[in-house]
Amino acid sequence: MTRLVDADDAGIDAAVRALAAGLLIGLPTETVYGLAADATNDDALRRVFAVKGRPVDHPLIVHLADRDDLSVVAEHQSTACRILVDHAWPGPLTVIVHARASVSRVATGGLNTVAVRVPGHPVAREIIRRLGRPVAAPSANRFGHVSPTTAQHVVTDLGVEVDLVVDGGACTIGVESTIVDCTGESPRILRPGAITREDVTRLLEPIQVALHSSSNPGVRAPGMSERHYAPLARVVVHESWGTVPRDEEPVIDCSSDVVTAAKSLYSRLREVDERGHPIVHVVLPPPVGLGVALRDRLQKAAVGR
Ligand code: TXA
Ligand code: MG
Repeated sequence: MTRLVDADDAGIDAAVRALAAGLLIGLPTETVYGLAADATNDDALRRVFAVKGRPVDHPLIVHLADRDDLSVVAEHQSTACRILVDHAWPGPLTVIVHARASVSRVATGGLNTVAVRVPGHPVAREIIRRLGRPVAAPSANRFGHVSPTTAQHVVTDLGVEVDLVVDGGACTIGVESTIVDCTGESPRILRPGAITREDVTRLLEPIQVALHSSSNPGVRAPGMSERHYAPLARVVVHESWGTVPRDEEPVIDCSSDVVTAAKSLYSRLREVDERGHPIVHVVLPPPVGLGVALRDRLQKAAVGR
């Protein structure tokens, strides 16, 4: 049985002991819940891929307790990388950097670059701090499906395969971190998130930022080609209410309050499946700020359906 524990001192302690013993835990973060393993334990990391049903060349994000720990995993930090992490950490930003030789190539999917972030959730940071080692954590869902934003979602998705889930409450942001590749000539946004492209562009000025674009060929980016973030129901996206068929249900409105929409989106999509609806209509937000991230996830959920 999966143990669901409170995010109090005893719960945090149990989580740290589980990680130290090579077990997997459900880790609360401010974006989505992670399926966490000791990032220095290759056997535990392999189990993460197996439990998620994730291809082994699809790398994991390594989570740190403190911004200063970046030098433990990063071979080199560009100016852009420094500016971004100084501004956004702890918080919903992941940077891709050149990995030190000591970073597990199981975590990086064999790459010499590594994705790193310091989560904003204090419970996540406390667990990593007490463990004293970085923690690798992809979102705690089966590959391609909707990410979890509550502890109960993790239990429902991964059941007995995860040894312990720490209940840190519902995620306050609700969509995965912004990913910025800082290894190339100019920094590139690979996945939009709550650190918006407007934030990144403003912070880095006059450094040029390459924007996330699904039509940009040859870019290695998360979940770009496949259907991703998808519920069982068919997702139909709309630019406005005007094209939503009259009397059709359910409809998720992401167009008016984008912060609340992000926070509740994955729960709403899960409810659609629980109620057995074959189809869900979603009204998209405008492509600015956090709206870019919501559109990205919803358009991927709608691919091929
Ligand atoms: O908000 C988040 O980032 C959550 C929480 C748990 O921290 N984690 C998360 O992990 O969304 P995951 O594994 O679902 O997504 C990580 C993405 C993957 O799509 C992967 O392809 C990309 O990061 N990634 C990891 N390392 C990379 C690298 N070296 N180069 C390019 N992309 C990388
Ligand atoms: Mg994921």
